[in-house]
Amino acid sequence: MYSEQVMDHFMNPRNQGRLLNANGIGEVGNATCGDIMKIYLFIVDSVIEDVAFETFGCGAAIASSSMATELIKGKTVDEAWSLSNKAVAQALDGLPPQKIHCSILAEEAIHAAINDYLRRSDLPERKE
Ligand code: FES
Repeated sequence: MYSEQVMDHFMNPRNQGRLLNANGIGEVGNATCGDIMKIYLFIVDSVIEDVAFETFGCGAAIASSSMATELIKGKTVDEAWSLSNKAVAQALDGLPPQKIHCSILAEEAIHAAINDYLRRSDLPERKE
């Protein structure tokens, strides 16, 4: 059973869509369920000025993307990098155990987008 927060972010996702001026884009997929999550970041002076997502996946993955984008908007790259899937799941008032992997996609997609930004800026990539 999903929490009200999960249902809200699934039914009314925040920051859904593409970001045309993105300077960091990360896409990850889960091989088992086949779901895909893409995160767009617009970073200025190490601050995430704008963020958007496109997720082709289950309700928990959409809710996790929505919540994760809300949690990193306006934050520094360092803060966004340290956002854990646990924090995303907690902010959603929990996810069923079999849906935890959906929130892991959000953490991984943010990391991939940050590394894409670093690559484009000729800066060293971060390690997991
Ligand atoms: Fe795969 Fe949710 S079931 S991301």
